[in-house]
This record gives sequence, structure tokens and C-alpha cells, in this order.
Amino acid sequence: MMGPFLASFVCYQPSESLAVAGIFRYEDDDNSKVILKLMVKFIISSQPFHSKETIILKVPGLRAKSADGLAKYLLGTIGSTSPSARLHRPFLYSVFHSLLAEMASHASNKLDGKVAIITGGASGIGEETARRLAYHGAYVVIADIQDKKGHNLVASIGSHRCTYIHCDVTDEQQVKFLVESTLRSNGHLDILFSNAGTVNDVKQDILEFNIPAFERLFAVNVRGMAACVKHGARAMVAGAIKGNIICTASIRASTGNENYVDYVMSKHAVLGLVRSASKQLGAYGIRVNCVSPGAVATPLLCQAFGVSEEEGERMYESHSCLKGVLKAKHVADAVVFLASEEAEFINGHDLAVDGGWI
Ligand SMILES: NC(=O)c1ccc[n+]([C@@H]2O[C@H](COP(=O)([O-])OP(=O)(O)OC[C@H]3O[C@@H](n4cnc5c(N)ncnc54)[C@H](O)[C@@H]3O)[C@@H](O)[C@H]2O)c1
Repeated sequence: MMGPFLASFVCYQPSESLAVAGIFRYEDDDNSKVILKLMVKFIISSQPFHSKETIILKVPGLRAKSADGLAKYLLGTIGSTSPSARLHRPFLYSVFHSLLAEMASHASNKLDGKVAIITGGASGIGEETARRLAYHGAYVVIADIQDKKGHNLVASIGSHRCTYIHCDVTDEQQVKFLVESTLRSNGHLDILFSNAGTVNDVKQDILEFNIPAFERLFAVNVRGMAACVKHGARAMVAGAIKGNIICTASIRASTGNENYVDYVMSKHAVLGLVRSASKQLGAYGIRVNCVSPGAVATPLLCQAFGVSEEEGERMYESHSCLKGVLKAKHVADAVVFLASEEAEFINGHDLAVDGGWI
């Protein structure tokens, strides 16, 4: 059983606009009483939202028009003795109990005590993975060149569960410093998610291939990836850590494309890196795998195509056999799986996360 910890919650309407947030103390004993008491206390005293952990609860059937509306509804219903409040109170209790179930699943803490580095961790797939790794108990070092986004993410996840370090992966010295400072502060490195990547804003079909742009892209997607795997692996070998290295490749690591030739080449190179490094590092008990996402409407994709998140999602909806939209969280869950004991004999694998690419 795990000890007490602070958690926050967010309830939102079916339209997914944020409705109400709070923070409470979770105790192993007498769970629901403690949660309800403190949750109500925090809501009523209007404590500022202070995210230690975000639990998303779907609240089906609520018709509140705005975040304020739902917050007032919850407050009124919890506190009030009116007949309508009495009617709704069981529903709210059931919401809180599903929250409790969610907290219980958190209690698995499958990455408890692990220290993880994520490059390109401030945005998109990296950001979502930082949240998921922290949720599963890992301490996360978020590395990126977008400092403001990185610091905001730390504030949102909670500074006791993660930190931000500026690191441009094209500079091997910065990568070395990232790993060394992680070791200095945490003693060991268990998980490296080498994820930083970029795409050129020129189309890069072969007849108009722009070599300087290709070199800039390779400096991030290939040289940067290799530098991260090198220094992450060195730290694991030196510390006798049977760690996990996961790289972000792409469906374009094993398929061609009409344009963006340099990007396609770079992701093929990531696959080569993963396949070779997994052969060499297996002897130390270090697993090296990659995830290959289909299209996720992150800032990278949206900027490349000049579209909004919604348009980006719609553009690729028909590209998977599964109905629905590929989200960063799907990729993040695959990374958590590869980093966990559940994947303890998976090595040198390219895990497609694409809903079955068409
Ligand atoms: N979005 C997709 O459809 C998709 C599909 C397949 C693979 N990928 C890969 O996923 C990875 C993450 O991309 P995303 O889609 O989340 O995009 P994103 O733009 O949201 O995130 C990429 C992050 O990498 C960071 N970064 C870029 N250059 C860097 C550098 N030199 N040093 C350190 N950080 C740097 C960016 O600042 C950004 O925070 C990339 O490797 C990308 O190639 C994305």
C-alpha cells in the first residue's frame, strides 16, 4: 500500500471545456471520507488550482454551459440540503468514487523510483509522455529548447515530480551536461525517451532538395538522437542500470513519402540506430526500442501543414483502420509500456502506434 499523497482533479463537460479543479489529500485508510472532506474544503475555500496530478473525470449528462456553471453546480450540490441537491448528490458521490478508482489504478505506480529523461519534452508527444511517466511514479527530467513551455509544464505536473533543463540536442556537450546533471541530482538514470524532432518548412521533394535544410534537420533528428542514446546508455552502463531507451521514430521510418524526403530519411536512420544499439546494449540488460506514431496533430504537424489542431486531426482521420483520432496520449501510453517491466523481454522493437495505417 502506498502512503498519503496530494492529488488534484479536473471535472469537465462532455464538450471538454475545463469545468472545476481542486486538490485533495489521498489516504489509504478511510479513503472516501478523507477525499470528500478535503475536496469540499478546497473547493469552498477557493484554493488556487495547484496541479500535483491531473485526473480527468468525464461527467456525462451535465448541462452546465460554462466552467463557472459546473463549478457552482458542484458547490451548490455538495453543500446544499435542497431537494434537487439531494437528488444529485448520489451522482456526485459516484463521480468521486470513480475518482477513487482512478487513484487506485495510480497506486500501481509501475515506474515508482525510476528517473527518466525526455528530450523534446516541452510539447506534443514529449509533453504528454512527461505527464504519463510522472503519473506512473517516475521522476522526469524534461529537456527542450522551448524554456517557457518547459517551465510551465513543470508547474503543471508539480516540481517535486519533474524538472526542466534547457538542452539543444544538436550540441553533444549540452546532451552530456543533461545526463550528468540528471545523475548529480538523482543518482541514476533508468529511462531515456529520445524524442526531440523537427520537420522542415520546405517540402523537400528530391528534385528541389535543399541540402542545408536537410543538414539542419539531420542535426536534430539523427545526430541529436544518436548523442542522446550514446550519453544515456553510457550513464546506464556505468551505473549498472538495466535501463530503457526509447526513441521516437515514425511510420515514415519504414515507408516512403511523396515529399519531406529528409524527414523520411532521418526516421529510417532512427530505426537503424535502435536496431544496432539494441544489439550492443542487450549485453548490459539495457533495452532499446522505438515508437512509430502515425499522424498526431501536435505543433510540429500543424506548423508543417499550416493547419489548426482540429484540421490536422481531420486530415488524418481516414489514415487508420481504427475509427477515431490518434492523440499524443496513445503514443505516451506505448512509451510507458516499453519503459515498464511489462515489456521486460522486448528489445530492438519498432512499436507502431497508428491505429493500423492505411
Ligand atoms: N506529430 C506527428 O505526427 C509525429 C509522427 C511521427 C513521429 N513524430 C515525432 O515525434 C517527435 C515529437 O514531435 P511532436 O509531434 O510531439 O512535435 P512537437 O513540435 O510538439 O514536439 C517536438 C519538441 O522537440 C523540441 N525540439 C526541437 N528541436 C530540438 C532540439 N534541437 N533540441 C531539443 N529539443 C528540440 C521542440 O522544441 C518541441 O518541444 C518528433 O521526433 C517527431 O518527428 C511526430
